Amino acid sequence: MNFDKRYNDYKEIFELELFQRIESINSSNQTLKDAMVYSLTVGGKRIRPVIMLAVAELLCVEFTKVLPFAVAIECIHTYSLIHDDLPAMDNDDFRRGKPTCHKVYGEAMAILAGDALLNYAYEILLRSINGDNSLSASRLLALYAGAFGMIGGQAIDILSENSGDTSEQTLFEMHANKTGKLLLASTLIPSCLAGNESFDKLSDFGKNLGLLFQVTDDILDVTSTKEKLGKSINKDENSKKLTFVTLFGLDGAKEHAEKYYNQAKLAISEFEENEFLISLLDFIKGRDH
Ligand code: IPE
Ligand code: IPE
Ligand code: MG
Ligand code: MG
Ligand code: MG
Repeated sequence: MNFDKRYNDYKEIFELELFQRIESINSSNQTLKDAMVYSLTVGGKRIRPVIMLAVAELLCVEFTKVLPFAVAIECIHTYSLIHDDLPAMDNDDFRRGKPTCHKVYGEAMAILAGDALLNYAYEILLRSINGDNSLSASRLLALYAGAFGMIGGQAIDILSENSGDTSEQTLFEMHANKTGKLLLASTLIPSCLAGNESFDKLSDFGKNLGLLFQVTDDILDVTSTKEKLGKSINKDENSKKLTFVTLFGLDGAKEHAEKYYNQAKLAISEFEENEFLISLLDFIKGRDH
């Protein structure tokens, strides 16, 4: 199997759907739409949609069923990045190799573009629901994107900057939610669409993949370059963030990454046709962007 080709094939299928849907975004204001489109199209690995399509293929779920969810999750992810970069949060000037949304459109418009992308995600889901499986997949995404998931994790992240709370439990909760829950949703939505097929195994896989992904993000903040990452580096220590690197050191963070990698690999090992998802774990662990 050629991993890069298959990744790019999934990415292409997804982006075709994304670009078609972007065309038809209704907005009463052109600047707002421009800001939404700017952040959605400026780049990004599209790893959440790729995971969704790969797991859909594993479970024999048709792509047409999963694509609305892939677009919705990328809209939610992109809004989370726009807000994460705002001066009130991480105060970052670069994202996906380009100036951040608020640097181009101003803070107020960036907040609104994030809000609008979030609403647009649910508009897509509500249009695509037809039956109990798609309803439960939509509910799962709403739950994992909100206070019980990504937003809850972001709250822990922001509060940890000044609280002096350096407990391993807080770090775990933060990462499992702020990054882990959307990646977990990517693995579980195809399962919901297939009537909860292999839900527990995929849950185990998705949770460990999510933690692996954020530990790697923490590592890259100190080991990579702005050019490769497309975002500023050394931000976490400067902002006094609680991360796997600030808590355990670089080697300790790498050991944790290895542990989550092995657990995710074990969870997926029982599936036939799991070659792509195993290579995806290698890609996440070894990534430089
Ligand atoms: C960045 O996510 C934010 C985190 C959750 C660590 P990605 O690394 O998936 O960012 P893009 O979408 O490729 O830009
Ligand atoms: C952000 O985590 C996770 C989100 C939900 C956006 P980070 O703040 O570490 O992500 P980067 O490093 O800015 O991409
Ligand atoms: Mg952040
Ligand atoms: Mg950030
Ligand atoms: Mg980071």
